[in-house]
This record gives sequence, C-alpha cells and structure tokens, in this order.
Amino acid sequence: MFISFEGIDGAGKTTQIELLKNYLFKMGVEFISIREPGGTLLAEKIRTILLDPEISMPDRAELLLFEAARADLIDKVIKPNLEKGKIVICDRFYDSTTAYQSYGRGIDFEKTLDLHEFTVNNIHPDKTIFLNISLEESARRIRSKRKDRMEQSGDEFFKKVYNGFQELVKKYPNRIKMINANDSIKNIHENILNELKL
Ligand code: TYD
Repeated sequence: MFISFEGIDGAGKTTQIELLKNYLFKMGVEFISIREPGGTLLAEKIRTILLDPEISMPDRAELLLFEAARADLIDKVIKPNLEKGKIVICDRFYDSTTAYQSYGRGIDFEKTLDLHEFTVNNIHPDKTIFLNISLEESARRIRSKRKDRMEQSGDEFFKKVYNGFQELVKKYPNRIKMINANDSIKNIHENILNELKL
C-alpha cells in the first residue's frame, strides 16, 4: 500500500507521519517512510538545490527537478518496497507538484499530469491524506522559521497553491482524503487511521 501525505507548509504532516509510523510499528506492520524531494542520494542533492534561497531558476527547471528527484525515488525505493509488500509512506508526492508548480507557478495542468505519468511509471498512491489548514494558520505556523527558497515565494503564490490543493481534493475524491488539521493532534491521528482503514 502506497500512502502519500499532502498539505501546505505548516500543516503538520511530519507530526502525523511520526504518529502513523509509531502505530504501524506497534502493530508489527512493515513499512518505510520517506519525504519528497529526497530519499535517495540523487534526490537529496536535488533537494538542496531546490530549497537553496541563493539559487534562482525558471519554473520549468523547478518542475523538472522535482520530477527528476521523484523518478529516482520511484525506481530505487518506492517500487522495490511495494514489491516486497511493505507499506510506503511518502511525505509529499506528485500532488505537491501539481499544486505548487502547476496551480502555483502556472505551468500547464495537462502537461504537468503527463509529466507525472512519465515520471512514476504506473506507480500511484493508493491513498493520499491531505491535511487542511487555512492560509492564515499556515503563515502563523511558519512565521518564525528561516524560510527556504520555496517558502520565500510570497502570499499570492501560496494562495494559488492552497486553492490548487482544494481543487485536487475535488478532482480525486476516491484517492485524496481531506482531514481538518486545525484539530488536536490526537483527533487528527485517529481520523487518519479511519481514512486508511488501519
Ligand atoms: P520541506 O521542507 O520538505 O517542506 P514541508 O515540511 O512543508 O513538506 O520542503 C519541500 C518544499 O518543496 C515545500 O515548500 C513544498 C515544495 N514542493 C514543491 O513545490 N513541489 C513538489 O513536487 C514537492 C514534492 C515539494
């Protein structure tokens, strides 16, 4: 089973993924957990480039770098582990690219989806947990953080990303499950387990 977690910055994915991992560990279920961009030597190097505030790049290059990191992660980590029957948990996957690079940066939607198909080679998340917080809450939660290149993109951009995620939830209701992330950590965790039927 392949599970991805999505949400705008500060939605609490990391905390919830930790709780899910603890739960699976206690249940004796085999799993691996990775984050995007990252998870392989190549993808971690690409991540450093993508988040470096000193580096500027055209939106096309940004899109292709996220996809390149993903292609490596698919071949080296996600596919082999799914084949072994493990649960794969991924902190962000291609919905982030659709939200940030297509809705956010304005790259053509259909082209972006075609590129995802090319990148993932038929490996798709079975379920996607979308942790929903408001833009105001997101801004509040990341205010004190030192901002990486993506986080420096400005309010207009984040508004588009936010709206993009809302659109994606509507477009893929069977796969993407929206969870209110403005709730207690415990309630969110229980809602996630319910959605995943774990
Ligand atoms: P990260 O520090 O992992 O953010 P978070 O903890 O919020 O997941 O940085 C990843 C950043 O890259 C984040 O701002 C979202 C962005 N991103 C994209 O723009 N496109 C993508 O395809 C992915 C995977 C991430």
